[in-house]
Amino acid sequence: MIFICRSLPLILLAILPVSAEVRCRYNATAPPTVSYYTCTALATKYDISIEKFFLLNPLLDPDCTSIQAGEPYCVAGNIVPTTTDGTCKPDSDTSCLGYSGGQCCNSQTWKCGNTKADCAAGTCAGGLCEVNDPSTYSLDGKCGSGNGNKKCGGKWGDCCGKSTNTCGTGSSFCGVGNCLYGNCTFTPPTSAPETTPLPFYYTGNTTDGFCGPNNDNKVCNVAWGFCCASTGKCGIGAQFCGTGCMPTYGNCTNANVAPTPKPGDVSPDGSCGGQNAFVCKGSSFGDCCSSSGFCGSSDGHCKAGCQNKFGTCTGSNISPDGTCGGTNGYTCSDSTFGNCCSSSGFCGTTSGHCQAGCQSKFGTCTGNDKVSPDGTCGGTNGFRCGGSGFGDCCSSSGYCGSTTAHCSAGCQASFGTCSTGSNTISTDGTCGGSKGLTCKGSGFGDCCSSAGYCGSSTTHCTAGCQASFGTCSADSNKISTDGTCGGTKGLICTGSEFGDCCSGSGYCGSTSGHCTTGCQSSFGKCTASGTNPGGVSPDGSCGGAKKYSCAGSTFGGCCSSGGYCGGTVNHCAQGCQTSFSNSCMTGKIPTLDGSCGPNNGGRTCANGPFNGQCCAASGFCGTTSSHCGTGCLAGYGTCN
Ligand SMILES: *[C@@H]1O[C@H](CO)[C@@H](O)[C@H](O)[C@H]1NC(C)=O
Ligand SMILES: *[C@@H]1O[C@H](CO)[C@@H](O)[C@H](O)[C@H]1NC(C)=O
Ligand SMILES: *[C@@H]1O[C@H](CO)[C@@H](O)[C@H](O)[C@H]1NC(C)=O
Ligand SMILES: *[C@@H]1O[C@H](CO)[C@@H](O)[C@H](O)[C@H]1NC(C)=O
Repeated sequence: MIFICRSLPLILLAILPVSAEVRCRYNATAPPTVSYYTCTALATKYDISIEKFFLLNPLLDPDCTSIQAGEPYCVAGNIVPTTTDGTCKPDSDTSCLGYSGGQCCNSQTWKCGNTKADCAAGTCAGGLCEVNDPSTYSLDGKCGSGNGNKKCGGKWGDCCGKSTNTCGTGSSFCGVGNCLYGNCTFTPPTSAPETTPLPFYYTGNTTDGFCGPNNDNKVCNVAWGFCCASTGKCGIGAQFCGTGCMPTYGNCTNANVAPTPKPGDVSPDGSCGGQNAFVCKGSSFGDCCSSSGFCGSSDGHCKAGCQNKFGTCTGSNISPDGTCGGTNGYTCSDSTFGNCCSSSGFCGTTSGHCQAGCQSKFGTCTGNDKVSPDGTCGGTNGFRCGGSGFGDCCSSSGYCGSTTAHCSAGCQASFGTCSTGSNTISTDGTCGGSKGLTCKGSGFGDCCSSAGYCGSSTTHCTAGCQASFGTCSADSNKISTDGTCGGTKGLICTGSEFGDCCSGSGYCGSTSGHCTTGCQSSFGKCTASGTNPGGVSPDGSCGGAKKYSCAGSTFGGCCSSGGYCGGTVNHCAQGCQTSFSNSCMTGKIPTLDGSCGPNNGGRTCANGPFNGQCCAASGFCGTTSSHCGTGCLAGYGTCN
């Protein structure tokens, strides 16, 4: 049999000038493993000769080496005989293939020929037609669902007209609205369809966070905050959205959208550097960014360890001698010795300096291959929080974050950064919270702010100042006497006759409108919103079986899709669980998985991990020309 198989080319060449027209009645599937013997095996199994097998499968190499596992091969059927008189029958009982007078069967004349017209789509019924599968083309000019959805081509025209169900050309067949299928005229959409028109302030034209009549009439937007304050700056929260807010240049009522962390912003909360890269210069907390990432103006903030990238520093802390950390607090970044500070206190660039034991407070550290992908840390996975986007501290219960609850008591130093200091006087600029550190005598400033940072500015020492953990100015903790709270006056609601909660719009009260969504915890009490039978999260987890809510927790107000509280874009954007949060982002939510556009919840590539990328018509963020060129969805990221 193998002999016959090998000798087949000669037989075929002798009897068939070109491959013959096959009418197959049954296909067999080649087995999962094939060899040159498979053709013989299939022929034997289906009781046909090996010669017939090759005739029925003219595309197979005659030595059977081109057979493909799992593919169909014809094992029953017949070869349509070549015409002897040059006529071809409509039911293909005789074939033009191999006929010397022309190998295309012309359906107009049912004669074989070899002119362009004989072989054209729409005319050629069999043989060497110019199209692969002539039976799918209309031979009578009729098309559409009532006519087997035959394709249009050749002399009939290449469009199937909608009203007539006949083939044709020109705009009455191919034009928009007239064309069923075929070479229809297609006008690519010039802009993305918006499901619902966005309010004007979502797409405000500020590029620098300034707004209003003194700033070219620029309008605030989602990236900078919706409210245009009387100072001409965009932002959110009471100081931007409250008294003086200019509604023409933003939206003065929307105080509840979580800020999109924007590297380089003036610190809104007293933190600096780190993930958010907030800068202290110009903030109300002081111009210097301390080594531990807090704004202030004391020596503790402005000298040793002071981060000049994020504020002003009064004494250079860059290592002059190759040592780092320790009592001098020299840092390695930008030093001539290398950017990493080793565990033993020397600057360098080797893995010994930059990996295990590397002191991230005094330089950069690398080589961490187990950055937390999901907001968990420590435990069996041993994930680390540094650079994770969830916050750099690993809490005692194993969640990444950047709040006092994550960074102080119980904080796991092996899996992230921790606030240091074991005695009651703060050595890192934090205060209060579960560690209860006090500011007095700390060197960072004697006042403990409502957010838990030591300092000596009015923001630290007045409204919300925690007297238990430092000194406070005489007018601190002013209880509201007029029902307003927060804002520039900084009045607090707790203990006032109006109610203990300070609403997002700056009024004291005790309804859920005051105490839940948008409630300002710095100026009063807040309760969690939504259904949270589990109460406020005690450990940074949320949702799930325990149903803990992040609203009002010390870990941050957003419950991430993975069930962790926090305040970063990873927590508050896509997937944020609104039932367990009070500050999920709304409107154009930054995508976390790269899906974007109107068919993907209106998510945008901007302001999240895909910031700067383009949203393709297919709904995915990216940077290629197919994302940024034709069809790019303009409202959901950048476009060329
Ligand atoms: C056999 O398989 C070929 C190739 O997949 C296909 O074109 C043909 O219609 C099949 N024939 C039958 C009868 O199943
Ligand atoms: C499709 O139509 C356009 C004109 O509308 C024509 O230029 C083009 O050649 C046609 N394409 C085919 C494949 O027939
Ligand atoms: C920003 O938009 C506003 C309102 O559309 C317009 O009046 C203003 O001139 C724009 N400013 C700039 C700098 O484009
Ligand atoms: C501002 O946003 C709120 C929703 O947060 C909306 O109800 C209100 O209509 C908006 N105002 C304007 C002027 O668009």
